[in-house]
Amino acid sequence: MADINGRKYCKLIVYGCQGNVSDGERMAGQLKAIGYERTEEMEQADLILINTCCVRETAEDKVYGKIGEIKALKRKKPELIFGIAGCMAQKEGEALIKRAPHIDFVLGTSKVHSLSQTVRRIEAERQHVVDVNLTETELPDESEAPVLRDGKLSAWVPIMYGCNNFCTYCIVPYVRGRERSRLPEDIVKEVEQAARAGYKEVTLLGQNVNSYGKDHKQADFAELLAMVDKVDGIERVRFMTSHPKDLSDKVIEAMAQGRHLCEHIHLPVQHGSSKILKAMNRVYTAEAYKDLVKRIRVALPEVSLTTDLIVGFPGETEEDFEGLLAFLKEIRYDAAYTFIYSKRSGTPAAEMEDQVPEDVKKARLQRLMEVQNEISLEINQALLGKTLEVMVEGPSKNDESVWMGHTRSNKIVLFPHGQEKAGDFVQVKITSPQTWVLKGEVC
Ligand code: SAH
Ligand code: SF4
Ligand code: F3S
Repeated sequence: MADINGRKYCKLIVYGCQGNVSDGERMAGQLKAIGYERTEEMEQADLILINTCCVRETAEDKVYGKIGEIKALKRKKPELIFGIAGCMAQKEGEALIKRAPHIDFVLGTSKVHSLSQTVRRIEAERQHVVDVNLTETELPDESEAPVLRDGKLSAWVPIMYGCNNFCTYCIVPYVRGRERSRLPEDIVKEVEQAARAGYKEVTLLGQNVNSYGKDHKQADFAELLAMVDKVDGIERVRFMTSHPKDLSDKVIEAMAQGRHLCEHIHLPVQHGSSKILKAMNRVYTAEAYKDLVKRIRVALPEVSLTTDLIVGFPGETEEDFEGLLAFLKEIRYDAAYTFIYSKRSGTPAAEMEDQVPEDVKKARLQRLMEVQNEISLEINQALLGKTLEVMVEGPSKNDESVWMGHTRSNKIVLFPHGQEKAGDFVQVKITSPQTWVLKGEVC
């Protein structure tokens, strides 16, 4: 262990949703506290940790691929500590070590905060550790938890853990347990700390933020938004994800009142046919969703709406699918994340009849993306010549002289770099809108 200067290194690989990214930052904080510096090089690492996702089969395949890759590293460097955390760890538990004995530890989703203890134990005893007991009622004690955030401007802030909704296709409630909301004062404290550390933007995280506080009743989501909106130094407040069934008029009103609450709602509909929505247990109809969108757009005329969509859910006919396309053309989302239905064993949908063949699912996904891309492009083209506020984030991936930032509506903007620095807020005139990005010039 450790290099000639006594330094130890860790490499963290994170898959999955923002909740997992946020957990990863809390894991990185603990590893730093017990003496591990971050490295991007697998070969240099004394500890490799994968924070996993199992929402679709493809997510699991990626993890198994990585686990295989690390086997050779471990052979070369037997003292390497290799751990698996996150949703797949929760789902598979000890089976992961049976399948791949070069894994040293498996840590469940409610054990994020005991990572440092686990690593210390392995350093001392060099034995396999499996800790996947899902504590569904208790919240982790975050008061002492160090967080090592990935970015310098935008901070993820979890406001609740778990999910109670049991959509019939989804594995998340099984691997994340029931909803547990953090206390409003703890959340505000974390946001204030982030502001003091120079963060300008926070994103409040939960599988269904709209049901925040239903357990402890100390504050509901609208009240929490108003509290976070008041924190000095935070210029932008975002949140995800909103379940349509719980997005109240009170939240919409809070958004309209808030100064820093950004005009963007990620409001996954999953499907546009009420028959499929019922089979998915989403608890709203296509009509009720359209109504909600109308109310949102009246109260927040500048709002951008994004969504998640699943094609090929069991029983989806050609007619249902065409209904989804018509629905998209009616709602006109700014953007959509589109997924092929993936069978998750243990969920009700996996047992349903009329599973849709793979080739049909793939062809439908293609058609869906074409329709949505056209809508996204049309919506963005309407922004030609408009001037929008952009938070400057840094150089774009492909070109150092081109800088990147987001609008309040969460669209990516690229512009030639001038005097501005990361963290500035600038006005950018849009000169070339595209499907995924807006190109422009600082005014
Ligand atoms: N809590 C959020 C979403 C969490 S999972 C919500 O309710 O909106 C992120 C997305 O993955 C979901 O919105 C859904 O579109 C997709 N997803 C979940 N399970 C899936 C499955 N079995 N197959 C394909 N996509 C799935
Ligand atoms: Fe999964 Fe539904 Fe919960 Fe979202 S609300 S995490 S889709 S069960
Ligand atoms: Fe994946 Fe777990 Fe998030 S299954 S999507 S990492 S809650």
